[in-house]
Order: sequence, then structure tokens, then C-alpha cells
Amino acid sequence: MTIKLLEPDEITKMRAAGKLAASVLDMIGEHVKAGVTTGELDRLCHNFIVDELDCIPAPLNYTNGPGTPPFPKSICTSVNHVVCHGIPSDRKTLKNGDALNIDVTVIREGYYGDTSKMFFVGKPTVLAQRLVAVTQECLYKGIAEVKPGATLGDIGHVIQRHAEGSNFSVVREFCGHGIGDTFHSEPQVLHYGRRGTGMTLQAGMAFTIEPMINAGKRQVKILPDQWTAVTKDHKLSAQWEHTLLVTDDGVEVLTARDEEDFS
Ligand code: MF3
Ligand code: CO
Ligand code: CO
Repeated sequence: MTIKLLEPDEITKMRAAGKLAASVLDMIGEHVKAGVTTGELDRLCHNFIVDELDCIPAPLNYTNGPGTPPFPKSICTSVNHVVCHGIPSDRKTLKNGDALNIDVTVIREGYYGDTSKMFFVGKPTVLAQRLVAVTQECLYKGIAEVKPGATLGDIGHVIQRHAEGSNFSVVREFCGHGIGDTFHSEPQVLHYGRRGTGMTLQAGMAFTIEPMINAGKRQVKILPDQWTAVTKDHKLSAQWEHTLLVTDDGVEVLTARDEEDFS
């Protein structure tokens, strides 16, 4: 398998797209509160992405292939037991105690920035706090593995070890992905695996890490809308995502927010 390495001018565009995607998550935070609908969050993000950032929201009308329905909204909002690809809706009102993932992907000058984070509505349960913290740690441990010469299995290994060591489980049906002038490309970045296995990383590769970690069992099912993935046992799930670039001496987090420190 050969992976396209980014040219310097492409890296410049990926940096711009990544920063803009991150800014959407910064913008939406204050709007996540009890009584708001996920449909309203989608409209706020859509208008911000189009009118303020001059970007395209990549999820809108995105399709997984012929015969599957296009995604109808501009962001994904995945509440509580929704694992990923939750569809924003004016009928889904947030309530105190909810934990949700907002996943934003923007296109800027043809290049993609893809990132997501967890938000709490009011006061989270102790379990939700722990699951969300461990899932973020899984992402950060995965990122810390990224450098030339490391393998994709190194990333999966540290994520799986931390999640399962915390008595949580790793979703296997979805993975991180190559990204650049397309939304999803090779390689598949699994969130489980064995150290030293899989593709070796090289400077200039760009991909996401986006672990989905469940409080209960790892199994998921897809709802009849053909997008929404939920836990089979209806227990809580969490996810965090960044878009990364492999550099000569390590990693650059293209979608880093100011609240984060990757130095
Ligand atoms: N942003 C998601 C990812 O991390 C993909 C969403 S596709 C959509 O890969 F169509 F559901 F929006
Ligand atoms: Co992604
Ligand atoms: Co995403």
C-alpha cells in the first residue's frame, strides 16, 4: 500500500483547514446547554462554517457509496449511547447530564480538517466524566506515538491498552483515516492492535485518530437511518478526534485548539 505524501503547499492548506475546523468547536461550546436542540447546533455550525470561515461543511450530502443515503446535515452530533454519525435534529433536545460528541469537518481550498470533542450538558455523571477523560487520554496517547518509523499498530496498541485497562471497550467498526484533498483515504487507522505491526509512518503523511470507546461492550448497531451508530447495550460511548501530520521529528496536530498543549 502506498500513501500519498503531502507537498509543502498542501501542508500549508491542511494547516489552514485544521485551524478553521478547530475554531468551530471553540465557537459552539457556549451553545451546548440544556434545552437546545442538536438541529440548532447544526445550524449555528453550518452558518459559521459557510459565512464566517468561507469553508464547506464536508458531512453535508456526504455519501458512503451508491445505494446509501447522503448525510443530511453539516456536523455529526452523537449523544450518550450514540457512538458516531448522529444526525442533528430539531426533535433532539439536550438535557442536563447528557454527554455528546460534536464532529466537524471543513473543506478549505480543497483540503480537509476533521476534528471532534466531547461536551457535557450541565453536570455529568461520574461514569461519563471518567469515560470522556479516558477517551481523550486514548487520543493523546495515540498522538504521542506518531513519528517517522513508528507503525499504525503502535497507535492502536496504546489506545486499546488504555481503554481496556480502564475496563472500557474499543469500537472496531470505525477507524481513523488518511485525509488531505479527500475526506477518507488509506490508511485505516485502527484503534486497537499490536505494537510493531501495520504500516510504517513517514513524514508527510496526514491522517486522523478518532477513538470511540464504550463504557460497556464494544458492539454497535446502525439505526434504520443508515448513519446513526449506537451501542448495542445502550451504554455510554465517547469519542475525540484530531487530524495529524507526521513531521520529520514527530507529529503536528493540525486541529489543535488553544486549550490544548502538544509541546
Ligand atoms: N467526521 C467523520 C469522521 O471523523 C465522518 C462523518 S461522515 C458523515 O470521519 F457523513 F457522517 F458526516
Ligand atoms: Co475522521
Ligand atoms: Co470526524
